[in-house]
Amino acid sequence: MNYPDDLQEQVEGYLESLRFPAPPAAGGLVEAMRYSLLAGGKRVRPVLALATARSLGADPATLLPFAAALELVHTYSLIHDDLPAMDDDELRRGRPTCHVAFGEDVAILAGDALYAEAFRLALGEQEGTEAARLAACAELADATGVNGMVGGQFIDVSEQAAPGGEGLRELHSLKTGRLIAVSVEGPCLLLGLDGDQLDAYRRFARELGVLFQIVDDVLDVTASDEELGKPSGSDERHGKRTYVTEYGLEEARSLAGTSRDQALEALHEAAGDNGGELEQVARFIADRES
Ligand code: IPE
Ligand code: IPE
Ligand code: MG
Ligand code: MG
Ligand code: MG
Repeated sequence: MNYPDDLQEQVEGYLESLRFPAPPAAGGLVEAMRYSLLAGGKRVRPVLALATARSLGADPATLLPFAAALELVHTYSLIHDDLPAMDDDELRRGRPTCHVAFGEDVAILAGDALYAEAFRLALGEQEGTEAARLAACAELADATGVNGMVGGQFIDVSEQAAPGGEGLRELHSLKTGRLIAVSVEGPCLLLGLDGDQLDAYRRFARELGVLFQIVDDVLDVTASDEELGKPSGSDERHGKRTYVTEYGLEEARSLAGTSRDQALEALHEAAGDNGGELEQVARFIADRES
């Protein structure tokens, strides 16, 4: 399956080049942050950000600080998601999870630090007008706060999602969808987009976010630890509500297909013929096996 490898390589190089200036005594904290960050995820969120830049005719390299900030936030969310008090998983990105390698106390702090460092990057290193940078960072904060990722994680762990498919979709759009969405929306704001075109990109991005978690739910049942680089069957072990428990495997797969088609329709409206790489990433998200 085609994936914009050149964009992924740019992201990887930039992430490796990041230094987190810390007092010598905090070197162990930076080690834990880099251990989880540089463990080789798919980099879907920053690749989406760079692909969005390309679809709008901008040089992807100019978006690297914001793109990297997305991956820092995502990595923090994975470290905390895996903690014993949350999903209690011991494998991530093919390695022992951060708390297994460094202890729970250090893992919690590594997540906290990655979140703050993300905003340091996005506010301090990203180019763009002041208004555009503020709008993108405000969107990132909103997408990851109580009306976004962390609110969604709360609803997940406290089993507060409303009954039925609507409640589950809402859960997925918060815990996973909004960070995926801001990976497209943030670059749009940084590049000064507004009006109907921004709305169409937003519709694409938000559908893509829900699609991402539907496929994650399916893979939790169908893929192996080796393929996923994380423990398969984690949802069932923890009695989680997922698209598979709600609809069954076949229907969940079919809903993923519908979601992909809706996302691609919105993408076409947003980007016309310029959305080639975004379409590649959307199809990758729908068809991936890891
Ligand atoms: C896993 O995200 C967590 C979810 C939001 C479902 P990814 O599947 O993007 O994980 P990495 O970054 O490739 O490891
Ligand atoms: C996590 O969802 C979403 C996050 C905000 C990290 P999951 O708990 O399903 O993610 P995985 O399957 O552990 O990667
Ligand atoms: Mg979880
Ligand atoms: Mg989990
Ligand atoms: Mg999962």
